[in-house]
Order: sequence, then C-alpha cells, then structure tokens
Amino acid sequence: MAINSSANPYQKVQAFAPATMANMGIGFDILGLAFQSLGDVVEVTHHDKPEVIITDIEGDNGLLPRNPHKNTASVAIMAYLKQLNRHDGIAITIKKGLPLASGLGSSASSAVAGVVAVNALLGYPMTKEELLPACMEGEALVSGYHADNIAPCLLGGLLLVDGITSDTVVRLPIHDNMHFALVTPNVAVLTSEARAVLPQMIPLKTMIKQTAGVARFFEALNRGDLVTLAKAMELDDVVEPARAHLMPYLYELREHAKAHGALGLVISGAGPTLCALCDSADVAKRVSSQMATFYEEQGLGAVAYATQINTEGARVILAE
Ligand code: HSE
Repeated sequence: MAINSSANPYQKVQAFAPATMANMGIGFDILGLAFQSLGDVVEVTHHDKPEVIITDIEGDNGLLPRNPHKNTASVAIMAYLKQLNRHDGIAITIKKGLPLASGLGSSASSAVAGVVAVNALLGYPMTKEELLPACMEGEALVSGYHADNIAPCLLGGLLLVDGITSDTVVRLPIHDNMHFALVTPNVAVLTSEARAVLPQMIPLKTMIKQTAGVARFFEALNRGDLVTLAKAMELDDVVEPARAHLMPYLYELREHAKAHGALGLVISGAGPTLCALCDSADVAKRVSSQMATFYEEQGLGAVAYATQINTEGARVILAE
C-alpha cells in the first residue's frame, strides 16, 4: 500500500553523514571515529509505489549499484521500513562526497545518510540511536556485521562498539588537540579483499600483545596523552601486518609523516587511506600535504585532508 505523502510532514529531506575511520589501528572492528567536513549526502522524497528506488547517484563514476537491493543506502532504508512495518514509497538520490573503497567509511556514510533522511521524511518515528540496526543492514552488504564505521557515522565522536545496537556503543573521551592528517592514494582496496587476507587464528603471545595495545590506547586516551596514544594505535600486530601489502608505501609514509611532525600513523579502516594523529591543525595540514606529495613523487595520485573529530554524526541538512 502506498502512503499518501500529504500525511507526512515533509516532501523532501537531505541528510549528511560523515566520513569515518574504523579500527584506530589497534582496535580492529571495535573502535571508530567520525571526521569533520567529509561525507555523503542522501536526498529522499516520496514515491507513488510502495518500493524504494534509486533515482540518481552522483559522484561515483557509475560504479555503485543502481539496483536498490544491492546498494547500501536503499538496503538500509528497506531494513528501516521493515522494522517499522511500513510500506512507504521512497525515491533516493545519493551524492557521493567520499571516494569508494577508500577506508573512509563510504558505504556506511550512504547507508546512514539514507536512513537519517527517511526517518525525518516520515516525521521521526525513531530516535537516532534506534536507527543503528537498520543502518547496519546496509553496511553488512559490503563489509559484514561490525559497526565501527556505522556507529560513529550515525552518532559522531570516538566510539567503542562491540555489537550492532546502540546499547553496545560507548562514547570515549576526546581532546581538542586531536587533529588528523589523511591521505587517500588513487588505488581501491575492497573491504572484502582486505578482510580475506586476515589470519583466522593467532598465537596466544600475539593475543596478549594485542590486548596490551588496546589497554594502552584507553589509558593514554583517558589521560589525553597523544604521544602515548599514537604509539598504542601503532601496536597492532595482527591486522596491519596482514594488510600492509595492500597499502602502497605504508611504512615509508609512517616515517615521512613523523618526520613532518605526526605522532603516529595507521591504516584508516580497511585502507588504503592512511591517517596520522597530530597535535595541532598546522601540523595536520603540513603532514597531509607532505604525504600527498610523497605519493605524487612515486607516480600515484592522492587526495589529502586535515580534519578533526565530528562529535554530532549524521544530520538533516534540508527538510521541506
Ligand atoms: N573494521 C573493518 C575492517 C572496517 O578493518 O575490515 C572496514 O569495514
């Protein structure tokens, strides 16, 4: 049954959802943060048949699926409607601000922006926190059930998340001097590919080292000690070594970033974006541009950003 759009408060809504970094190096699948400025926008309107359709996708060079059953945004919206037992007709337009397969949570961003927009279009039947499982269904299409991109994308901040509902999310302390230099080389790394290379078993000694790294991360974060925090982020002895061959010049860039003032550098999510923690805006700006120049000197195009943590997460930017 199609819903009469005049019963709904808005005819058109746009929502923005930010870029995110999963893992923070040491915290595979359980830590993630949202970045300021970068992100995707999804626009939603009512549609006269009880179905979710994709009207247009901008900025993806035609690479993303137009089939609504295969796109993270429309699948998440369908999961949201199913949860509410509604059969609304929804038309969506996705405006990609984030590069695909880049380690910046691009698929999560479209899924979250889509669900946040439709929730507003229908008059906010759910709270933001309640949207997490539906957003997760979209992300799971490409990356499995871990909410380390989805949760910070939706809710903002630096989060510990070890489940797919909002009661598994813990907001961690952040500090004003946490700045990030990002560089995305012009290569695509599919999350599925970056997960396929991971070990299924690890030795007990490695587990102890990894656990100690996570503990050091939390201890340093609580004290606001960014030098120790950056060292802890780099202590990952399981995921980074297995993926390093997929990230061009990872170890060279780590040294290069530090030579220009960064405190530490890790792979952002499943890569290939690299993320350096810095303690001022000036250093983050210098490090990001130096990292892009490094890639260009190796014959690889790259995009650089300097940013901070987005504490708000996804938001409605237009409702009319
Ligand atoms: N934690 C995930 C990974 C993030 O590193 O594979 C990408 O979905």
